[in-house]
Amino acid sequence: MDRICFTVLAAAAAMAAAAFENGGIWPDSGGVHINAHGGCVLQDGGTYYWYGEHKIAGGAGNRAHVGVGVYSSEDLHEWKNLGVALAVSDDPASDIAKGCILERPKVLKCPKTGKYVMYFHLERGNGGYSDARVGIAEADAPEGPFKFIRALRPTPGTAPQNAPADELGEEAMQKSLADTAKPVSNGPSEAGMKALLWPAHTRGGQHCRDMTLFLEDDGTAYHIHSSEHNSTLHIDELTDDFLGYTGRWWRMAVKDWTEAPAICKHDGWYYLIGSGCTGWKPNEARYYRARKITGPWERMGNPASGINPLNGIGPALTWGGQSYYILQPSKATGGRHIAMFDIWRPQNAIDGRYVWLPVEFGDGTISIPWKNEF
Ligand code: GAL
Repeated sequence: MDRICFTVLAAAAAMAAAAFENGGIWPDSGGVHINAHGGCVLQDGGTYYWYGEHKIAGGAGNRAHVGVGVYSSEDLHEWKNLGVALAVSDDPASDIAKGCILERPKVLKCPKTGKYVMYFHLERGNGGYSDARVGIAEADAPEGPFKFIRALRPTPGTAPQNAPADELGEEAMQKSLADTAKPVSNGPSEAGMKALLWPAHTRGGQHCRDMTLFLEDDGTAYHIHSSEHNSTLHIDELTDDFLGYTGRWWRMAVKDWTEAPAICKHDGWYYLIGSGCTGWKPNEARYYRARKITGPWERMGNPASGINPLNGIGPALTWGGQSYYILQPSKATGGRHIAMFDIWRPQNAIDGRYVWLPVEFGDGTISIPWKNEF
């Protein structure tokens, strides 16, 4: 009896010791701060795989010099570094050459092919953020190695399923070509608000920057990404091998300038958390809700509350963080959805921090109160 009691107490102590301080250093099983930023957590069988941007020290770490890192865990606390899941290439001619921008990797297991598919935001070459592409990679095993397949701008030659009539046709195309010829800032501006942006991009495909993936109960996958100069989110339906697009897509949060999409489903509602567009600097989170993933989506408020004691920042700047993923409930999450945020450190990118918090559900609403520990 005593022995059982001791074992239970020891297990409880181990669990308590394993709690992560939100916004603090999160050591992996080797004692090194976890290096997997802007990513996602995939549950596969009884194991969790945490993928994310592998950053190096200093400002150079804002570009990809290594690739996408992966960690595994059975309990979401003890994380083993499995190394690099998708490596950037030493060949300067590669689309994913060292020094490119490779952000927000998301991984799903495809039920049809049994393969693991990774989508990420890719800016090829050494330029800024104007390339606005998605990169797609695939692997036979969750830890990789992922093989890069291609980079593209999605859904060329197609119109959104929910486009209003006045955005279709030749007149709309001419307006769009004129509007996109002018500079449109990556943030709310008068020119940006008036501009009709998507029709002109049917020629080369739509912009693709911050992103996530979502797997529906029926096995259909959706790629949700900031588009149209970051002014509007697109929800793109994927083919059943998850390697391409069906050409059916929907616009949401139109001209709301939303980045950092993270999505979940609960009790007949879809919820999407996002941020505004202020680069690495934090801003106020917002969420949207819908009865169908394809919309219509309704803008709700800021789900965040409470203060992060490590930096004194509250909900107006999302505790200094920016959303990146929502993990579905399981035993290890205590039956809760877990919303995940990055606290970026662009001057020393490798030192970026994590905040994981349970989502509280109301009647068609969500809230995310701060907690010091995950
Ligand atoms: C953020 C975005 C990040 C990264 C950064 C670059 O707004 O969410 O993923 O692209 O801008 O400034």
